This record gives sequence, C-alpha cells and structure tokens, in this order.
Amino acid sequence: MPSDMTATDRETRCLPADAAAIAEAAAILKAGGLVAFPTETVYGLGADAGNDRAVARLFEAKGRPRFNPLIVHVATAADAARLADRDARAAALAARFWPGPLTLVMKRRADCGVSLLASAGLDTLAVRVPDHPTAQALLKAVGRPIAAPSANRSGTLSPTIAAHVMAGLDGRVDLVLDGGQCPVGLESTIVDLSVTPPALLRPGGLAAADIEAVAGPLATPDADGAVKSPGRLARHYAPAHPIRLEAAAVTGDEALIAFGPEVPAGARITFNLSPGGGLVEAAANLFAMLHEADRAEVAAIAVMAIPDRGLGRAINDRLQRAAAGGGGH
Ligand code: TXA
Ligand code: MG
Repeated sequence: MPSDMTATDRETRCLPADAAAIAEAAAILKAGGLVAFPTETVYGLGADAGNDRAVARLFEAKGRPRFNPLIVHVATAADAARLADRDARAAALAARFWPGPLTLVMKRRADCGVSLLASAGLDTLAVRVPDHPTAQALLKAVGRPIAAPSANRSGTLSPTIAAHVMAGLDGRVDLVLDGGQCPVGLESTIVDLSVTPPALLRPGGLAAADIEAVAGPLATPDADGAVKSPGRLARHYAPAHPIRLEAAAVTGDEALIAFGPEVPAGARITFNLSPGGGLVEAAANLFAMLHEADRAEVAAIAVMAIPDRGLGRAINDRLQRAAAGGGGH
C-alpha cells in the first residue's frame, strides 16, 4: 500500500462501490494512499488533504507539470465552514447549491489543517460538497477533507466512467471505486468569493445564471485568452524575498532551502526539502518550507538545484516563477 512507493509500481484494483469497498477506500485514504471515486460531476482522484505526502503522491500520479491548487471535498457545508471563512454570500450559495456541482474559493482558515501543497501555497481554498452517494459515503467514512482533482492524467479529458480512470491511472493509484457513470458529466462550476465582485473562474455543471440569482452578478474572465484556463486563474503564491536558484554556496544573510545529503554551510537558517534526495518528500515540504524561509530575517532565499524529472519538474516550475518575481499569472 501507500508508504513510499513511486507512482508507477502500484497494483490498482477497481471495485464496485459497495459498502465494503467504500470502507476499504476510507482506510487507504487515511493511510495516505490514493483512491479514485465517482462524484456527480466527474471522477475525482482523492488523497487526504491534510497529508502533504499523500498530496505530493497525487500530483505525481497525475503527472502534472505544475502544482495547480486542488479542490478540497467535504461531506457537509458545516465541514466546509471549518476550513474557510465564509461570508453571507458563501452561506447563501452553500445553503442553495450544496451538495452539488459548485466549488467555492474562499479565504483559507489558519487552523484548517489542509496541506499547503493542496492549495499551492495560496491563502485561499477551493471547497466543494459533492452530491453523489458514493462520494458522500466515502467522505463520511474518512471523516476528513479529501483533496481531489479530476482522476485523469494531466492534459487528458476528465473521466466520467471508471474505465476512463483505469485507462489513465492503472498502476498509479491504489483503488478505483466504480460507481457507474457520473450523472452531470461536466466539472463543477468554480466561483471565487475571495474577490469582490465574485468571479466565475470556471464554467461547469451549475449554470452561472443560477449562481447570479443568489449571489448577484459574477465577474467573468476577459476575452484575452491569457486567463481562460482555470489553472492559470489562481494567483500564484510568491515569496516576499528574492529567490536565488541552483545555489551551490550560500552567504550568512541568506536562508537556504537545501535538497539532498550534501548541504553547503554558512546560511543564516537552513531547511532541507529531502535529506535523502526524494522528490515526493521534497514536493510535500516545498510550500511549508518556502513560507518558513520567507518569514526569516534574511536578504534572500537560496535554493539548491532540484533534478528536473518527475515531480522535480513541478517543483522547478514553481521555483522559477517565484524567482522571476513570482506573483501574477
Ligand atoms: O467537478 C470537479 O470540480 C472535479 C471533481 C472531482 O470534484 N474536480 C476538478 O478538479 O475538476 P481539478 O483539479 O481538475 O480542477 C480544479 C481547479 C483547478 O484548475 C484550479 O484552477 C481551481 O480548481 N482552484 C483550486 N483551488 C483554487 C484556488 N484556491 N483559487 C483559485 N482556483 C482554484
Ligand atoms: Mg482537471
């Protein structure tokens, strides 16, 4: 099972989503494993949202070249309220449309316990309460928030039957719960409530007009293609300090983010993404260590070279954006 296997050496089982399989799926998720499950929109690939390692393995399994922030799934609107600050608009939308194909982006609560990797270091969180008996039963059995992007390899279509999931992820996840065809068949509609007016980040299974009837007019992305893709709409986490990449030596006024067993001496403060040189561990630690290093009283953050393979590509993508002045899109 989970432990530290790489994404390509798992045995993937596909089971009908009966009570026994759901109980087993919950146990796998609690142990840090990966389970694909049906929701009313599309199949999601779930991991314990509070477990950095599990979330890192999820990105590895999807083969995402970037750390896009993930949607966190919970069983009830009351569970959602423990993760993110909700205002009157959020409460009204939750009351009207949850459970259902609506994802709300809200300010992340400091005590929410969700992995920083799951929200890609952002101070917001995308939350959804799915309306599907299997998803509901699984979330209740696990009893913690589950991060779940669509259960497809990066760059391919979202899966709406279990066979689609197996075609893309066989050998890369622990279990697929087969709950038949997803009734909506389109991803959830994503609304960002952390901005005023609220913004429609991704059209989806719930019509924008229905949302506007409750929350008022939504801002929509302008016609200039740059912000069309949902992954690019999220503001990227950017450290306040300058970042120096591929550092082989450090100075006393720098914080060092190291990787691997051989670490140059002399930094004001040193963090190590993975002393053993593991990329899953490094991804799991990336955002937490960037935040820590950014809090230190230093002139800059130096980061050692990270191998540009597997999850290393996503780590380097994020570091390069941060080094280039970060922020923005
Ligand atoms: O229907 C769905 O939403 C499915 C099912 C499994 O729930 N999930 C899904 O997840 O489509 P995914 O990862 O394929 O798409 C999630 C999108 C990301 O592209 C990202 O842009 C956006 O949600 N997102 C997540 N967190 C965000 C945040 N804090 N701010 C802005 N956008 C966010
Ligand atoms: Mg997707």
